[in-house]
Amino acid sequence: MKVTVVGTGNMAAGFAKRLVQAGHDARLVGRNLGKAQALARETGASAVAAAEGAASDIVIVATPFNAAVDALKALGDLSGKVVVDITNPLTADYMGLTIGHTTSAAEEIAKALPGVRLVKGFNTLFAQVLAAGPKLADGSVPPVFLAADDADAKTKVADLAKSLGHPVVDAGPLKNARYLEPLAGLNIYLGYGAGLGTTVAPAWLPLA
Ligand SMILES: NC(=O)c1ccc[n+]([C@@H]2O[C@H](COP(=O)([O-])OP(=O)(O)OC[C@H]3O[C@@H](n4cnc5c(N)ncnc54)[C@H](OP(=O)(O)O)[C@@H]3O)[C@@H](O)[C@H]2O)c1
Repeated sequence: MKVTVVGTGNMAAGFAKRLVQAGHDARLVGRNLGKAQALARETGASAVAAAEGAASDIVIVATPFNAAVDALKALGDLSGKVVVDITNPLTADYMGLTIGHTTSAAEEIAKALPGVRLVKGFNTLFAQVLAAGPKLADGSVPPVFLAADDADAKTKVADLAKSLGHPVVDAGPLKNARYLEPLAGLNIYLGYGAGLGTTVAPAWLPLA
């Protein structure tokens, strides 16, 4: 699958590594070409221009929430494109969310980019968990929670997550990003605030 990651930071690095390992054509679009090229060399992904990035099967936006719409618009017309929003709308100290309850980062991005087939997901995985691969210390595999209104787009992103070795939890419509973003907030509190470290992840487990 051709997968573009927009951004060259921690999450982009994790995606690039894992996508290449899983045999995908991983493309990086960064506002700083030098950084994108360096990450491409490190991971085996390719640094591409905006237009080539837009011509992928899936686009993953891995910038801060408040930069996501502009970073996606820089790719050109994304109408009909499957875009994965992994952002968490965090306060500056990472210990709270700037929006929630009546909307979510995902819904705001979808509103700003009509025609884009937006899927919320991967936002509950720390970059370290993403980069390390699916297995946690006890051998369990953290799921990817997905919320979207477009069933076909959700299936495509679910297939991508499964190709990286993650089980998928269907978290319902896009507005349920209002739950997934606070879930990531709790994960961040546990990782940083409570000192569990960034190698933990939430899961949803059935009774045996
Ligand atoms: N880190 C995690 O564990 C984690 C886990 C789940 C979800 N997330 C979410 O994933 C997203 C990325 O997190 P991260 O940790 O990878 O952040 P990061 O390391 O700070 O990287 C952010 C990337 O966004 C780029 N960027 C910033 N402003 C931009 C703009 N206006 N236009 C284009 N690109 C811009 C940065 O470019 P420059 O390098 O040029 O500054 C950088 O490449 C965030 O929304 C975060 O909430 C993070």
